[in-house]
Amino acid sequence: MKKIAVLGYGVVGSGTVEVFYKNKEALEKKVGEELDIKYILEVRDCPDERYRDKFTKNFDDILGDPEVTVVAEVIGGIKYSYGYVKSALEAGKSVVTSNKELVASKGAELLKIAKEHNVNFFFEASVGGGIPIIRPLNQCLSANEIDEIAGILNGTTNFILTKMIKEGMGFDEALRIAQELGYAERDPSADVEGHDTCRKICILASLAFGRHVYPDNIHTEGITKITLEDVKYCESMNSVIKLIGFASKRGNDVAVMTCPAVINEESQLSGVNDVFNAILVRGDAVGDVVFYGKGAGKLPTASAVVSDIIVAAKSHGTSRSMNWEDSAQDFVIPYKKLDNKFYIRAKADRKTVEGIFGEVRFLSRDGAPDDECAFVTPVINEAELEGKCASLDVLGLIRVLDY
Ligand code: HSE
Repeated sequence: MKKIAVLGYGVVGSGTVEVFYKNKEALEKKVGEELDIKYILEVRDCPDERYRDKFTKNFDDILGDPEVTVVAEVIGGIKYSYGYVKSALEAGKSVVTSNKELVASKGAELLKIAKEHNVNFFFEASVGGGIPIIRPLNQCLSANEIDEIAGILNGTTNFILTKMIKEGMGFDEALRIAQELGYAERDPSADVEGHDTCRKICILASLAFGRHVYPDNIHTEGITKITLEDVKYCESMNSVIKLIGFASKRGNDVAVMTCPAVINEESQLSGVNDVFNAILVRGDAVGDVVFYGKGAGKLPTASAVVSDIIVAAKSHGTSRSMNWEDSAQDFVIPYKKLDNKFYIRAKADRKTVEGIFGEVRFLSRDGAPDDECAFVTPVINEAELEGKCASLDVLGLIRVLDY
């Protein structure tokens, strides 16, 4: 019999317990022995909860219990989870987590500790919710050099942008619905400011390129400045706006960024709507592979957590975790050295714009004021663009990406 502890009983924690007990019999067949959840760590009192006899407020109950071999950390954040995960691994327990903040900032260290203690540290649920991406990237695509990863990695912002694009709904109302549906982070600024996407692309980049990519080194923009005017101009060039995380190999270095992007309707990423995520992986042998599914929500995320629990229970006594080295900042190319095309909306006339940028593609929308001008620049260096924009009253600026 393998005993499991679940740390946290929020949206993902309660989903994990629900999926576990719903499919317990089938899961036991897969592992080849009986399984049970012995503890649920939760600071709140939950007297009416079905599984209240398993609740504890004391992590040491779990740490000191040799029967517990697998710990599922679904608390989120770093404050408590880092110490809990570290000490569980050091105590010889495998850990699975949905916590992208933890993996993105401490992944290299925790993987090393897992290896040293011959246990596993798995985090399938940390990227893409229910979409299998970590294990496929690490195992099924391991024959490839990965050249590029680009994805819609945040369900909340994709849900908001879809509502804006398809229904003309305002930002605040769309965010409120996403929160009610359990997609958003506890502090939704992590979603809308792009930090959640940034953490996820850092995890994928670390895995793909074998060196830890730290969120602090990545240029990150969210969707809070996107307006319905921008949506309309992009529509006029058969394009949509999506929040994209990308990581691209450039020689020995990588370009990694999180930003809203104008994506042509012909791209596979353009039709990814609502809470769905999609991740495009470009390998040198396989070509392009796209992973698609629900990127947030209670049961999709729990699906990935429980799957990791099963692999961890099956592989107890061996260390099958993935691996990446720690790394220095200079692995990531500073974003100002990158080149891109840009969509710009400005208070300016066409002559002024052409004087600054040369030949551009002008866009139009119904009801635009006379002093508003929207256009797409040629490919230009990011630092150079900043200089050119200094003499312009810029109302909106979004990268145009080819995926
Ligand atoms: N807040 C995240 C999202 C949850 O909206 O994608 C899943 O990581």
